[in-house]
Amino acid sequence: MPSLSLSWTVAATSSFPSFSGKPSTAKSSTRFHVSCNVRNDGQNAPNSRGKFDRRNMLLGLGGIYGSTLTSNQPALADPIQPPDLSKCGPPSDTSTGESLDVNCCPPVKQAVDYQLPRPTVMRFRPAAHLATKEYIAKYNRAIQLMKSLEDDDPRSFMQQANIHCAYCNGAYDQVGFQDLDIQVHNCWLFFPFHRWYLYFYERILGSLIGDPTFGLPFWNWDSPKGMTIPPMFLDTNSSIFDTKRNQNHLTSIADLGYNGTDDGKSPLQTVSNNLNIMYGEMVRNVKLIEDFMGQPYRAGDAVNPGAGASERGSHTAIHLYVGDPRERRLENLGNFYSAGRDPLFYCHHANVDRMWKIWRDLRGSKPKDFNDKDWLNASFVFYDENARLVRVKVSDTLSNERMGYVYQEVDIPWLKSRPQARVQKSKVATTSGAPSIADVKFPVALDKVLKVLVPRPKKSRKQRDKETEEELLVIQGIEVDTAKFVKFDIFVNDEDDKIDELDKSEYAGTFAQVPHSHKGPKKIKTSIRLGLTELLEDLDVEGDDSILVTLVPRAGDATIGGIKITYVST
Ligand code: C2O
Repeated sequence: MPSLSLSWTVAATSSFPSFSGKPSTAKSSTRFHVSCNVRNDGQNAPNSRGKFDRRNMLLGLGGIYGSTLTSNQPALADPIQPPDLSKCGPPSDTSTGESLDVNCCPPVKQAVDYQLPRPTVMRFRPAAHLATKEYIAKYNRAIQLMKSLEDDDPRSFMQQANIHCAYCNGAYDQVGFQDLDIQVHNCWLFFPFHRWYLYFYERILGSLIGDPTFGLPFWNWDSPKGMTIPPMFLDTNSSIFDTKRNQNHLTSIADLGYNGTDDGKSPLQTVSNNLNIMYGEMVRNVKLIEDFMGQPYRAGDAVNPGAGASERGSHTAIHLYVGDPRERRLENLGNFYSAGRDPLFYCHHANVDRMWKIWRDLRGSKPKDFNDKDWLNASFVFYDENARLVRVKVSDTLSNERMGYVYQEVDIPWLKSRPQARVQKSKVATTSGAPSIADVKFPVALDKVLKVLVPRPKKSRKQRDKETEEELLVIQGIEVDTAKFVKFDIFVNDEDDKIDELDKSEYAGTFAQVPHSHKGPKKIKTSIRLGLTELLEDLDVEGDDSILVTLVPRAGDATIGGIKITYVST
């Protein structure tokens, strides 16, 4: 069934409410595209997006504008459109209200549609810790050349870094919605946007050294031997060195559960945690596409509908682990506006991109991509290696081979990291003394550990049902200041409360965000979902009426709007 969409024209006055909730400054005759949330493509979550629900918008407007609404019009798609570069503005810092004092707008040019070239040779992306001397020298030379381009050359190192600032800190408005930013994080654009970003970055580097096989290195942080910052980035004389990194983390095992402080865990515990975190965010929590990719985000939507498990897990942890705490905004990697200034960013994101490929490969015969036009047709603009401004689409990113690059094949140790089955954990819920969810008054400020009993609408499910329908723990109405690092962890039926041990079945997952700014209200509301089917099997509690959910605050402030269990067919 195609999505139902409506459009209408309103002669807006200055008091017309905009989608961001701020008074709109819309000029007269602004056309709004409103697509109905009810879709039948089997991809959408029930509305757990914690965002403005356009159905309410329709109802709210019905009384006033009802007569101008016409249904049964041809469906109007509303994918996110590329930004209008001529309207690029300064990024803002919502935490302080100050301007960030950077201009991250690219030069303005007429964009042309990009034709993905048929690859004749494959670019090879090596694991950074395994790269040869020759490769490292070549990579250094390429970055050196990029750094020596004129500042106003869109291929220059700073202009490339600023791409991230512009798309991620509110410099661009959504076309047609001047109160709404474009934000490529915390939503389903996360993987495709960064894939295009690295694609052009890599091609620019390759063309500067005249090597069409050049591929970016990937930081193999999902494998024990690759878990430290790749040594090539520590050479102070190299072009890929950066001073703005956490000096205590230069040679230690990166903590994929990093909470902003060094808690004295042993390196072995960190490795063990990391493998279970990877298993959780790549397998256990992501049976549904949006739980891996991120939640739907269409034109007219407010930012941050919800990040996928990998984005908020390992991806966010690495940003914060490397970001420099001596810097006010954790520059460079610890804030979106500055992240692209550290060459290590692209090495980190090459592994993030590799996770997308691995996750798709693990899907077997299950659908691997959203079959939704608003995702497939979402588009961005980038400068290519010939300094042409090109318009690209999400639908061209589905295969890395088709885009002309491959990853070095390395062992994937976390695939075997499903936690051992434990003794039955039922008693934990019944003896915990925690209040039932009905007795908790939401919203709750998460300023200390929160324990609640959450009822399960279905129990003792058959194997067949479990295969076709995923049981999900939904944490909704998560209210956070986007300019701050915020993280909390979620455990199920946990009794020992050893929060540094994340290598056990009871660890359900995390919420975490990289600090960034956006227009509009300081705080946003978002939500997350965690797969429970495998976890409950591992704890042997499929027959229980309720589970004990523990939320452990790790960094920053969050308010929780509600917790529930839901079932969605896979
Ligand atoms: Cu665009 Cu890792 O961030």
